[in-house]
Amino acid sequence: MKKLTAALLACGVFGFMATPALAQQAEGERYKPSNELIQPIEPHVVENQAEVDLGKKLWFDPRLSRSGFISCNSCHNLMLGGADHLVSSVGDYWAQGPINSPTVLNSSLNFVQFWDGRAADLREQAGGPIANPLEMGSTHELAVSVLKTIPGYVDEFEAVYGDREITIEEVTGALAAFEETLVTPNARFDQWLKGDDDAITDQELNGYLLFKNSGCVACHNGPNLGGNSFQRMGLVEPYVTDNETAGRAGVTGQDIDRMNFKVPTLRNVELTYPYFHDGGAKTLSEAVDIMGRLQLGKKFEANEIEDIVAFLKTLTGDQPEFTIPVLYPNSDETPLANPWAPQESAEG
Ligand code: HEC
Ligand code: HEC
Repeated sequence: MKKLTAALLACGVFGFMATPALAQQAEGERYKPSNELIQPIEPHVVENQAEVDLGKKLWFDPRLSRSGFISCNSCHNLMLGGADHLVSSVGDYWAQGPINSPTVLNSSLNFVQFWDGRAADLREQAGGPIANPLEMGSTHELAVSVLKTIPGYVDEFEAVYGDREITIEEVTGALAAFEETLVTPNARFDQWLKGDDDAITDQELNGYLLFKNSGCVACHNGPNLGGNSFQRMGLVEPYVTDNETAGRAGVTGQDIDRMNFKVPTLRNVELTYPYFHDGGAKTLSEAVDIMGRLQLGKKFEANEIEDIVAFLKTLTGDQPEFTIPVLYPNSDETPLANPWAPQESAEG
């Protein structure tokens, strides 16, 4: 119990542990939102449609990878909730990625990018995967030089950025502009937050009140129900995993930051299995059970887990909808990618 108190203090949960949510229910009145720690997601307002359209093409273009086969969408599949449904991603030369692919949906709302926060924003992030040997396996120079041989791209970069020199900053800027459109407003829970009492069922509301009053909301709050702090995985009870990721310690070099991760968003969590940085939980029920025990020292009953899972499913919002882009054809100068080219030394 002492440990739990420390845990709750650590995430500043005391202030709202005493909310009268359940009391209101006891009076026979259905709980209505008031000063909740979760806010609705608003639709994104596009500032530069031409840049977004360019970014959309780049997002789907496998020619940004060495193999000519892997695009951003390979591991953040927008038909699969912006993730890949694998324990960890498959990269260049069938490489096994070290960590589970997070969803890109609503990632613009996160305070930093990556599980360990090593990129400040989407623009900084987007350069990473292109040059990562375990992901797209290319280099910025190679990716840009390929784009420069494709006349359709040269024209479109000029239309958007005003010159025919394609730079990696323009590539990542366009990708980020597209990613900013990938928000998912209008989830049933958001409709409820905005005053539509009937948008969620009694079971889902019960799940929400359990989520809130048990202290989940201490870490999963804000419009993204996460994405705004680093927290320890295994606060009350250690998390056992074979995954060797150092978490935030990989950035700070501080041992105390081991197993600290950016709290993942719970938006669209119904679609983004498997869960946790190591993909260790296959189902939402499993993830909720583990969170209860490891983060809060609380063993939920089976029916409580069902209710919380029902609530989590109300967080699925409108998925991005658009026509798929038709990508520009190569010119005669464009090199043909070869996924099976002999692999260079590991440092590659
Ligand atoms: C081979 C699979 C793979 C490919 C291809 C890939 N990613 Fe990722 N992406 C990942 C993984 C795995 C992570 C988590 C890495 C980490 O946190 O250390 C990630 C993290 C991210 C994040 C951070 C999300 C968050 O909440 O922290 C964004 C944004 C992102 N990728 C965008 C892109 C873009 C843009 C591209 C294309 C240029 C791309 N990704 C290509 C696997 C991939
Ligand atoms: C002390 C902070 C904290 C508390 C409290 C907390 N979580 Fe989490 N939650 C995290 C962190 C950190 C992760 C990522 C852990 C990892 O990947 O290793 C996470 C991950 C998750 C995931 C998986 C998301 C994904 O995409 O991988 C779910 C689902 C979840 N939490 C639900 C809950 C529920 C339900 C509760 C309450 C029972 C709760 N959390 C309480 C910090 C917290």
